[in-house]
Amino acid sequence: MNIKKVVQLVFSPTGTTQRIADRICDGISDKHITIDLSCNVKEQTFESETVIIVTVPVFSGRVPNIAIERILKMKANGNPAIAVVVYGNRAYDDALLELKDTLNQIGCKVIAGGAFVAEHSIVREIATGRPNKNDLQTAFDFGKNIAEKLNGNDMREVEVPGNPDYKNKKSGGGISPKANNACIVCGECAKSCPVGAVPKSDPKKTLKNCIGCMRCVSVCSHHARALPKPITFLLGAVLSSAKKKICEPEIFI
Ligand SMILES: Cc1cc2nc3c(=O)[nH]c(=O)nc-3n(C[C@H](O)[C@H](O)[C@H](O)COP(=O)(O)O)c2cc1C
Repeated sequence: MNIKKVVQLVFSPTGTTQRIADRICDGISDKHITIDLSCNVKEQTFESETVIIVTVPVFSGRVPNIAIERILKMKANGNPAIAVVVYGNRAYDDALLELKDTLNQIGCKVIAGGAFVAEHSIVREIATGRPNKNDLQTAFDFGKNIAEKLNGNDMREVEVPGNPDYKNKKSGGGISPKANNACIVCGECAKSCPVGAVPKSDPKKTLKNCIGCMRCVSVCSHHARALPKPITFLLGAVLSSAKKKICEPEIFI
C-alpha cells in the first residue's frame, strides 16, 4: 500500500503514552498528524491510504472509557490501523483486545498491535523512568516493521491477547485527586483536565466525573494536587508485585 498519510490518535494524560506513540510514528514515516483524544474531537472519516495508529494507556486493565467514546466518533473504510496500549508494569489484561475491537467497530483493519511499559502514573516507584532507551528503540523498530508490512501490501489482521468477556467486567475508576493548601488557583489543572472535572471557576474542587487519570497532578507546578494519602498507600501495597518485576514490550505483527 502506498502510505499517503499517518494519523495518530493518542490519549496520554501524563505524557508517557505520547512518547511511545511518537516513536512508533517516527518509524513508520517522517511526518504524521496527531488527534489528541484528551480534548473533545470532531466526527471525521479517514481518507483511503491513511494509516491510523491509536495509542492509549491502560486503566484497570481496560481502555479508558473517554478514549473509547472519542475513537467511536471516527469512521474508517477498511483503513489499516495499529492498536497500542501502554501500561504501568502490572498488566494490560484485556485492554489491547478492547482497543482492537473498537477499531474494528469504526471500520479499521488492525494489522499490528503492541503493549508497551511506562512508569506507573499513580505509583511512580513502579517502572520509574520508563519508557527507557530500549523501549523507545523497540517502538521505532516496530514502526519500521509496520511500514515494511504495508509497503509489501500485507494487510493481514493480527490476533491479540485478551478475554472477550471483558465486556461484562466493570472498567474501574473511583480514585480522584484533590487540591491541597499549596493551590494558588492558577487554573492550569482545570484547563488541561480531559473530562472537565476541575471547574475553571473553582479549581480547588474535583467533580464526580473525574476519571483519576492524574493529568491534573502531573501539570501542577505547585504540587498542589494529589490523591488522598490512604489511597496512594493502599495502591502502593496492592501493586507491590509490580514493583519487583520487569515487563518488556510485546509486539504483534
Ligand atoms: C486510573 C489508572 C488505572 C491504571 N491501571 C493500570 C493497570 O490496570 N495496569 C497497569 O499496568 N497500569 C495501570 N495504570 C498505569 C498507566 O497505565 C501507565 O502509567 C501509563 O503509562 C499512563 O499513561 P500516560 O503517561 O500517557 O498518562 C493505571 C493508571 C491510572 C491513572
